[in-house]
Amino acid sequence: MTRSPIHALARELHTNLKHGSRGKEVAGLLAEYAARERDWREFAHFKGECYARNLVSASELFELLVICWQPGQVSPIHDHQGQNCWMAVLDGQIRERLYHLPPQQKGPLVAGHARVLEAGSVAYIHDDIALHDIGSLDRPGITLHLYSRPIRECRTFDAETGAETLRGLVYHSVEGVLQA
Ligand SMILES: [Fe+2]
Repeated sequence: MTRSPIHALARELHTNLKHGSRGKEVAGLLAEYAARERDWREFAHFKGECYARNLVSASELFELLVICWQPGQVSPIHDHQGQNCWMAVLDGQIRERLYHLPPQQKGPLVAGHARVLEAGSVAYIHDDIALHDIGSLDRPGITLHLYSRPIRECRTFDAETGAETLRGLVYHSVEGVLQA
């Protein structure tokens, strides 16, 4: 059976994660895919009101999503529930800004490093590194996200007060099919 490149990637990621693959190998697979393949376009659905999370493939070890950002759409500041998150930029430019919890975990967040990632770049984040928000600039952006393990909800934060909210995560489409 012929598999599309993105499904071959998902299978390879599953095998790597199952064998306790190191982050460098996972990032390498994502970078190679981002540089060579275009079949992610089948999963690239946008939404008007906010960025769109499109599920490509999932297992008990990971979920692989194509996230579509209209110009200027930005995520809330969020954590990753102790999981690993890799992000490859497939198209456009993506801005990432890091934040840290303040001493005593109370009050405004402490802003950290910000950067712009170009198509082909792969970034990694974990709660031990920082919280972050990400978004597109003045053009649409498309990113490929690998969470291991899957994340069903996350905490979002108000930068000025540090107030947090637990938020359930939903999919705009699943395996190419738009959700109601
Ligand atoms: Fe994130």
